[in-house]
Amino acid sequence: MNRRLFCRSAMGAGVALATASRAGLGAAAAPVRREGAVKLFTPLELRGVTLRNRIAMSPMCQYSSEDGFANDWHHAHHAARAVGGVGLLIAEATGVEPEGRITPNCLGIWKDEHVPALRRVTDFVRERGSVPGIQLAHAGVKGSRHRPFHPTPNAFVPLDEGGWMPVGPTAKRYGGDGPVPRELTVAEIRRITASFAAAAERSIAAGFQVVELHFAHGYLGHSFLTPLMNERADAYGGPFEHRTRFLLETVRAVREVLPEETPLFVRLSCTDWVEGGWTLDDSVEVSRRLAQEGVDLIDCSSGGATRNARIPVGPGYQVPLAERIRNEAGIATGAVGLITEPDQAEQILAEGRADLILMGRELLRDPYWPHRAWVALGSDTPHPIAREYAWALRETRR
Ligand SMILES: Cc1cc2nc3c(=O)[nH]c(=O)nc-3n(C[C@H](O)[C@H](O)[C@H](O)COP(=O)(O)O)c2cc1C
Repeated sequence: MNRRLFCRSAMGAGVALATASRAGLGAAAAPVRREGAVKLFTPLELRGVTLRNRIAMSPMCQYSSEDGFANDWHHAHHAARAVGGVGLLIAEATGVEPEGRITPNCLGIWKDEHVPALRRVTDFVRERGSVPGIQLAHAGVKGSRHRPFHPTPNAFVPLDEGGWMPVGPTAKRYGGDGPVPRELTVAEIRRITASFAAAAERSIAAGFQVVELHFAHGYLGHSFLTPLMNERADAYGGPFEHRTRFLLETVRAVREVLPEETPLFVRLSCTDWVEGGWTLDDSVEVSRRLAQEGVDLIDCSSGGATRNARIPVGPGYQVPLAERIRNEAGIATGAVGLITEPDQAEQILAEGRADLILMGRELLRDPYWPHRAWVALGSDTPHPIAREYAWALRETRR
């Protein structure tokens, strides 16, 4: 715990009273008190959308769709975390084309028929005070794989068993098995950009209030950026300007169809963590350009272009990426990756290292993490958990 930020000793009476009365404390309890507002529970305004707090659910594939459709599982997955008080929920990598899915069970938004089932999810999320977001994605060379809980996880799904031919900037395999992917033509690249834009329009029709473009983890978007996966010699490969063309064209096409009030995020793998790959310097430079194109936040992830990377995995290991982009590219950033503790999340925000905290696995473990953080940090904002639970928990500090 950082004693500069988090002080358990006696402080201003106003803070102590607010904490004690809200929590229904007895005299023996030890409230967490702090100077000033708790950053994690400070609203975040992005264009016309206000997040009630800085806690976001990071997009996480559920591999539970048939033909791309959302169903009761997606409803339960999002509903639990909206009830728990998360400010922003970003739905999993959602295929903008059927061949843009990682597995045949991935969520999709390539046809209008997908919209009503998604709308059922977003209606509930919005009604509970969370903001529904969606991550639009194309899997590229990593497509047509079995889901992780299939008997042969991640194995290539043959074409005659519901799979498809993966495509990428270059005819180069990522994994060991499956066919060599097919190199996209320029006309196909432009069609995929148009598919992102059409998917963004459907996202708005489906009630999403934030759109994120997936340009990370070795999927199609990232594979154009990194020299490790892009060996093209045309306008979409080679120098930085060429490798970033697909990203910038896609951002422009999507921004054009999004309402002015809708924030647009881009998730980048901010570094490949290997020599000769995409670097943090590259990410800073492209983020500057993305800010000029109307992108509102960079969601700072990393890796995924190669299995040879040595990634320094540990608590908050990607925070320095978010910090540098925020400070040098003049754009809001989201920090993600092994952020699990309320104090840790608060400190990242309080020190100006990111604007938003994205959490994946910890929110799978505990959909009520915002409630735990609110108690632990002694926030005096309204209780984030649903009113049906909040009234019952009011008399305790747990
Ligand atoms: C089950 C699962 C599914 C994931 N699916 C996606 C995804 O659809 N899109 C994405 O960008 N990242 C995906 N990720 C990565 C997470 O969004 C997140 O960046 C990563 O888990 C690190 O955060 P954490 O340490 O809080 O879990 C997934 C992670 C998990 C655990």
